[in-house]
Amino acid sequence: MKPAPKTFAVKSFGCQMNVYDGERMAELMAAQGMTAVADANAADLVVLNTCHIREKATEKVFSDIGRLRKDRAGRGEAAPMIAVAGCVAQAEGAEIVRRAKVDVVVGPQAYHNLPRLVADAAAGTAALDTDMPAASKFGALPARRKVGPSAFLTVQEGCDKFCTYCVVPYTRGAEVSRPFAAIVDEAKALVDAGAREITLLGQNVNAWTDGDDRGLHDLIRTLDRIPGLARIRYTTSHPNDMAQGLIDAHRDVESLMPFLHLPVQAGSDRVLKAMNRSHTCDSYLRLLDRVRAARPDIALSGDFIVGFPGETDAEFAETLRLVDAVGYAQAFSFKYSPRPGTPAADMGDQIPDAVMVNRLQQLQDALNRDQLAFNEESVGRTCEVLIERNGKLPGQKLGKSPWLQSVLLSGEHRIGDLVTVQLTEAGPNSLKATTNFAS
Ligand code: SAH
Ligand code: SF4
Ligand code: F3S
Repeated sequence: MKPAPKTFAVKSFGCQMNVYDGERMAELMAAQGMTAVADANAADLVVLNTCHIREKATEKVFSDIGRLRKDRAGRGEAAPMIAVAGCVAQAEGAEIVRRAKVDVVVGPQAYHNLPRLVADAAAGTAALDTDMPAASKFGALPARRKVGPSAFLTVQEGCDKFCTYCVVPYTRGAEVSRPFAAIVDEAKALVDAGAREITLLGQNVNAWTDGDDRGLHDLIRTLDRIPGLARIRYTTSHPNDMAQGLIDAHRDVESLMPFLHLPVQAGSDRVLKAMNRSHTCDSYLRLLDRVRAARPDIALSGDFIVGFPGETDAEFAETLRLVDAVGYAQAFSFKYSPRPGTPAADMGDQIPDAVMVNRLQQLQDALNRDQLAFNEESVGRTCEVLIERNGKLPGQKLGKSPWLQSVLLSGEHRIGDLVTVQLTEAGPNSLKATTNFAS
């Protein structure tokens, strides 16, 4: 029998949905009377909220567990309890207990049971829950507490797309939209708790539906009316679910920020088909034309995978051409990582690492060039910046532009302020701004 933990630390890896889940787990433990501590080594309970998307992400979990276990050696009952949550917990389940001897394993759809699992572990009972119950966990979670100016709100869970490289449909389960009213209530609670910006989250957030005929744009138009909520964002979207109503919302709804993260993955139609992406390079570009017609200043973002099995040099060159055609404001790019249990892992013609490294470098050079160009084109614009935290230098504040650029600013601004600025100087990853300008 171990003593019940009094302090905890949650470490989240991976996507924003994991960040959101990490916050909810922390709220859950605080509601049990436990105290959050920043240093994982000083906590009685460490929750590793893990990501399984690429091999590196998964390996990181095991090295983290190894480090924590080393620290535990010789500490007897004072040793911290280790709980593994998130997508690795779901994918590996009991295997983690066997391989890494952790105390608790809990999947992304079962973490509302964390307090019970921790109690079981303290009592020496096996504590593993990777169920995907029909009743959603959200109803069993405590109300939102204090949040920062920019908050996440998961509106949809799981994915039904089954891209052939991806583990998410297996680790997060089927695509499920949360009910309209529950989302609106949580958004209001977040605003009451300090949020001025809400980012709606889902693996295919633009496929959100209330089951009848309301889509994400209806939700956005409703949230737009919440007093005190200044900014709405959403991520991640799939090209196939980009309804005209949502595109129109970018034209009409002032609080909907001019930013769209719309992953394309590759520029070759043959590769896209092998990935089971169900859009083509051309249909994607035409879609972006419609988005830009509705909101000409929109900042575009994407995800790319280089070295999918069988990708030739010529096919990779099509990805570079697509990047040139779009001019992304920012983007994420990855080397393909074969994931156990996914169809692509068993495909022939896996690409050697050296080839992937070279392609990734070329792609990132192009994306960095475009990101800097987008930032440079922004210089001279006046816009609002939402102040999110203190900068590194004294008196400096860091905020976000409508186009999700990081903006550095000095002056007497408080966290959570919306400040009208002029952008004055551009770097690759941030801009400088001033409040001293003639309007
Ligand atoms: N639902 C989103 C994001 C999923 S995960 C979407 O479909 O766009 C985020 C990104 O990780 C993906 O867009 C993809 O670019 C990348 N990714 C997913 N599986 C991967 C794998 N096996 N290897 C490399 N990158 C991968
Ligand atoms: Fe993965 Fe594709 Fe679903 Fe995105 S849409 S989560 S890449 S399966
Ligand atoms: Fe990673 Fe799971 Fe998100 S695999 S990217 S944490 S959905």
